Amino acid sequence: MSVIKRMSGFQPTAADRTRLINPFRVMDVLERARQLESTGVDIVHLEVGEPDFATAPQIVAAGMRALQQGHTAYTPAAGLPALRERIARFYADHHGVSVDPSRILVTPGASGALVLASNLLLNAGDTVLMPDPSYPCNRNYVHLVGGKAVLIPPAFPGRPAPTVAQLESVYDSSVKGLWLASPANPTGAVIHDSDVQALSAWASGRGVHMLMDEIYQGLDYADTASSWRAMGNLPTALGYNPDNLIVNSFSKYFGMTGWRVGWLVVPQALAATANILAQNLFIAAPTPAQHAALRAFDEDVVEVLEQRRAAFQQRRDFLCDALRSVGFSLPWQAEGAFYCYAGIERFADDSEAFCRMLLEDHGVAVTPGTDFGDHDANHYVRFAFTGALPRLQQAAERLQRALA
Ligand SMILES: Cc1ncc(COP(=O)(O)O)c(C=O)c1O
Repeated sequence: MSVIKRMSGFQPTAADRTRLINPFRVMDVLERARQLESTGVDIVHLEVGEPDFATAPQIVAAGMRALQQGHTAYTPAAGLPALRERIARFYADHHGVSVDPSRILVTPGASGALVLASNLLLNAGDTVLMPDPSYPCNRNYVHLVGGKAVLIPPAFPGRPAPTVAQLESVYDSSVKGLWLASPANPTGAVIHDSDVQALSAWASGRGVHMLMDEIYQGLDYADTASSWRAMGNLPTALGYNPDNLIVNSFSKYFGMTGWRVGWLVVPQALAATANILAQNLFIAAPTPAQHAALRAFDEDVVEVLEQRRAAFQQRRDFLCDALRSVGFSLPWQAEGAFYCYAGIERFADDSEAFCRMLLEDHGVAVTPGTDFGDHDANHYVRFAFTGALPRLQQAAERLQRALA
């Protein structure tokens, strides 16, 4: 018998707001896929949004060097000064935008940047507008600080961002944020410059903070001339209003998911407050990982990353063609990131049941649209082309067999 008696009548309970947080369905898919694999079933993984490439060797070496040199203590809360300066130089070199390093906070991944932003910007009762579908955690960050996330369905399937008319139609004085991503998860869609400009103008006109998550920047496939290497004129929402907030990360293009380093660019007027919040929320992002990230912008590393981008592009081309030929609809152009958001209306009206069927009966793991929003979510699934081409070919054959 336990020597510590349970206090009579006390039941541990989580806070009410935790009930507002949806579980990640993709994690259920992954868990079930792993169970099946443990019984010898071969599963092609198209569910998880994580590049399959290991971190570039030069970045790994820089991380190891940092550890060997004893860089294991906290950095300042906003990050290593050298890294903040390097990120500022990146905005100057690649985007032609001048950002003072004091506006850049290095965070534990883009996730840390989003937590910091929600705490920085929102009062209880404030509303944040975001597209439906969009990255599921964003709603939850807003809910956790007592805000309300309002998801705006696409004006038509395939439209990467809400229109200004849609924003106006839902605007009231509680609206304090417009959160977008380009390229986006789950659609891979890129918001084109003229739309970013119009949305940015609307937000500043209405006194609404616009936050753009640019985590998939660099992973774009529409126009090779605007690739990372061409430099100088990569689009960023900062170019349209210096007070727009920017989330970015070393996780995706730079292939450093597990290192946990990202960043947030804030308006100068909020930099000091953001710094105080960062001290309290995280103390700092991981120190060896920040030293490693410093290496990520160097030309020899970018060369490796560009080869990987080319591989993603090849996978994207293959998968989109294969999905179309099996009968999926693809209203969103997968111009970036590593996702296709595919319509299953020819096959089913229940995306979770459809995903279960593909996993259990055909060994293909994909994510139901219901992870990303409410609007017509049962007619979509997300395919992540993060696996190698031969595995995608296998997936295509299995889909053909399952659905033809
Ligand atoms: C749009 C978007 N933002 C943020 C994140 C979180 O990224 P990080 O690993 O940098 O925390 C993800 C992860 O998939 C994402 O898709």
